[in-house]
Amino acid sequence: MKAVTWRGVNEIGVEDVPEPAILNDHDIILAVGLSAVCGSDLHLIGGYIPTMRAGDVLGHEFMGTVAEVGPGVTKHHVGERVVVVSFTSCGRCWYCRQELWSLCDNGNPNPGITEALWGQSIGGCYGYSHALGGYAGSHAPYIRVPYADQGVFAIPDGVSDERALFASDAAPTGWTGAHQAEVRSGDVVAVWGAGGVGQMAARAAILMEAAQVVVIDRYENRLDQTPGPQYLYDQVKQQMRLQTDRPAAVREAIYACRKGGTVFTLGVFAGVVDKFPLGAVMNKALTLRGAQQHGHRYIPEILDRMSRDEVKTEHLATHVMPLDDGPKGYRMFKNKEDGCVRAVFRPGS
Ligand SMILES: NC(=O)c1ccc[n+]([C@@H]2O[C@H](COP(=O)([O-])OP(=O)(O)OC[C@H]3O[C@@H](n4cnc5c(N)ncnc54)[C@H](O)[C@@H]3O)[C@@H](O)[C@H]2O)c1
Ligand SMILES: [Zn+2]
Ligand SMILES: [Zn+2]
Repeated sequence: MKAVTWRGVNEIGVEDVPEPAILNDHDIILAVGLSAVCGSDLHLIGGYIPTMRAGDVLGHEFMGTVAEVGPGVTKHHVGERVVVVSFTSCGRCWYCRQELWSLCDNGNPNPGITEALWGQSIGGCYGYSHALGGYAGSHAPYIRVPYADQGVFAIPDGVSDERALFASDAAPTGWTGAHQAEVRSGDVVAVWGAGGVGQMAARAAILMEAAQVVVIDRYENRLDQTPGPQYLYDQVKQQMRLQTDRPAAVREAIYACRKGGTVFTLGVFAGVVDKFPLGAVMNKALTLRGAQQHGHRYIPEILDRMSRDEVKTEHLATHVMPLDDGPKGYRMFKNKEDGCVRAVFRPGS
């Protein structure tokens, strides 16, 4: 079958890959309906997450129709329209039972790489390098989904494919930030970045009765034209491999946060950063947290709110295209061309 693949740094391909098969009793095979490009994919494309191999299938934000079920699957049936959380989590380990799903001890079959990087491994993610499990991604006609009784959710009738798609990754990531940062009624919340994730974090904060939500963004093309000295410093250090990530927004959040407040990073960082304002964190008594999304915990609520029109996401799917347009979709999303918020592939077209 044809799929959108990683070929090398800043190189996206469309090529033939093997069709997936059921490997474990708890797997399903999903016929992919829609599969989106996420901001996290840009870290892969840029080569900042190692352990990608040429030919790896990309994509982790997706929905579709169940095509085949393993003998151990009890909650799903062939023909069901479903959305799948982007993280793979077992549902049985201590972390899953605490509802800290992305921290799953078993969802990543290659734990050694992230253990060496972070001290402990976390769960796996589709199409997101061999460090996070080496699972084939969703930019393909079919994908194998492990732990289907945990990570697959039936889409309510009346919720469109284009809306349900974002219950996979962008919306539950926003929910994770707002909930784990413990937004309370009357709080003032600032969100850096108005992409799919930032918009959903803002929406979650509003639903949690924040008094005011401020969303901050700078478009990348403007950033490239008039970069501030701090941005240039991080870009140069990252490109020389002296630091692995660019923390400008996190620094700003730490300086802007009120004394005693909470800074939560949903933006993906892989390694180390420089010039981190620990003094501000300590003296202002800030709480600093972060997480990959715990979508299993929030997706049922999100789908319910989607069916009541309290969460609308279809506007994020600005550019829907066939898999053959993989390289174009990635380019448009990366450069935010033509107002692209999300490039979305429809393998059936
Ligand atoms: N934690 C998770 O589970 C999880 C899941 C999905 C995505 N993510 C991460 O969330 C982040 C956002 O994802 P997205 O899909 O919305 O990406 P996106 O690329 O669509 O949007 C990011 C936005 O941030 C803006 N931005 C960049 N630097 C900024 C700065 N210094 N100040 C203010 N705005 C700035 C950009 O202009 C852009 O509009 C990415 O880092 C992605 O890796 C995390
Ligand atoms: Zn993502
Ligand atoms: Zn687990």
